[in-house]
Amino acid sequence: MKLDLPRLQQQAARLAALPLSELCAEPQREREFAVSAIGIRLGLARQKLDAEALQVLLASAEVADLVGGFERLMNGDEVNPTEQRPALHTALRSDLGESPIARAARAEVLATRQRMEQLCVELESSTVTDIVSVGIGGSDLGPRLVVDALQEFANGRFRIHFLTNVDGSATARLLPRLDPKHTAVLLVSKSFTTQETQLNGAILRDWLGDDSRLYAVTANTQRAAAIGIDETRVLPMWDWVGGRFSLWSAVGWSIRLALGRTGFDDLLAGAAAMDAHALQTPLDRNLPVLHALVAVWNRDILGLSTQAVLPYDERLALLPAFLQQLVMESLGKRVELSGNAVAVDTVPVVWGGTGTNSQHSFFQALHQGTQVVAADFIGVVKPAHAYAGNHRALLSNLLAQCEALACGSASSDPHRHYPGGRPSILLLLDALTPHSLGALLALYEHSVYAQSLLWDINAFDQWGVELGKRLANQLLPALSGGEPAGDAVTRSLLESLVPELR
Ligand code: F6P
Repeated sequence: MKLDLPRLQQQAARLAALPLSELCAEPQREREFAVSAIGIRLGLARQKLDAEALQVLLASAEVADLVGGFERLMNGDEVNPTEQRPALHTALRSDLGESPIARAARAEVLATRQRMEQLCVELESSTVTDIVSVGIGGSDLGPRLVVDALQEFANGRFRIHFLTNVDGSATARLLPRLDPKHTAVLLVSKSFTTQETQLNGAILRDWLGDDSRLYAVTANTQRAAAIGIDETRVLPMWDWVGGRFSLWSAVGWSIRLALGRTGFDDLLAGAAAMDAHALQTPLDRNLPVLHALVAVWNRDILGLSTQAVLPYDERLALLPAFLQQLVMESLGKRVELSGNAVAVDTVPVVWGGTGTNSQHSFFQALHQGTQVVAADFIGVVKPAHAYAGNHRALLSNLLAQCEALACGSASSDPHRHYPGGRPSILLLLDALTPHSLGALLALYEHSVYAQSLLWDINAFDQWGVELGKRLANQLLPALSGGEPAGDAVTRSLLESLVPELR
């Protein structure tokens, strides 16, 4: 852990008696605590921080060598030591890596992009009307978010569907709406062993009845070939891209099919601009670095155990779900790279929902609950619709919530008292476009990585998910009447379940 805890705690103690409302009353506060780049304004004015505390945080960023960390990441150093690999997602969109490894990765990326483009052109000139992207986790959440968020930029050539869950209800609902003769299926799975994707993929393959419209994206091309998918319809990804960082690769094929080439290129360009910003901008003006420092301050110094993601834009409704995986799968670790326990808390629980809907749901707890929740509010200045009155109302709610949480409102009636002191980050996008969305998602990716450097943990493995998968595989035969398995509780449950399944 690279945080100077005693000094940071001293800062928190110094600020403890100062209400956040007083900090927010300073006339220059908003401008002093805002940084803009690539059409995104990061506002930290409503954090329980002043300039001195921020300097101490920035000193931790020096100690953790965040700049060196970004260089190592983009150059393909082994930043994922438990799997002995680099994490070169930046090579999917940027030319910044100068090492031979990064250059070789970039060449493969560009060659794959060309092949994907060729397949897209073929699909566009075919009679296919519907695309089903089958995948889960990182092979689903990013593409699904982007396709949903950027509907206004879609060229309308295809209807895009996502099939994720092993629960057959999703498949049963989707297939009656589609015609197999006019549907193409993309099996998206880095490992090509994921149970959900394998089962759903097999069902869709039978349903298609013709493999010529079955495609795969995987790092396990041998396995795709083994089940008979012609290599001309298999696009590679690589072990040096983590699933949750992979929407920029052929995993995002559905994005390219939805937006057309220009839209996909703009998305990549926005992310590339954020890569350059992260690598080249001084720490105190660096959006991902500042975002990460504030996240760690809230988690470890103020002890906030959950993080709400609150987009005030319906188009970003899937952002909380995407960030749940990105943040919690990356930072949900309890040991440092060395294997020793981390001395502080790491990842908060990430959750959220869109405004203003959430105001009428869980905001009561944000304002008056016993737990203070760290919040990221995300707003978009220019709407993509003509309902100006609605948009003004949306933005007024966004600003009001940030103020109400921070400043509160005193009342002698305890039930009507708002304590305030509840910090939030405000991320304001000039407009939601492929470019700005690419930049926003890359900002979060780099913030996550910067947090991992501050905690000295591995952001790129996910061993925690393996045990449950293994046990489920061991139990599967018992569900069809095979040998009982599991511990006493599971066995007892199986005894009552199995007769019901017959
Ligand atoms: O179970 C977690 C996980 O491995 C994620 O990290 C990954 O994004 C997801 O499963 C899907 O994996 P795959 O792309 O290999 O099917």
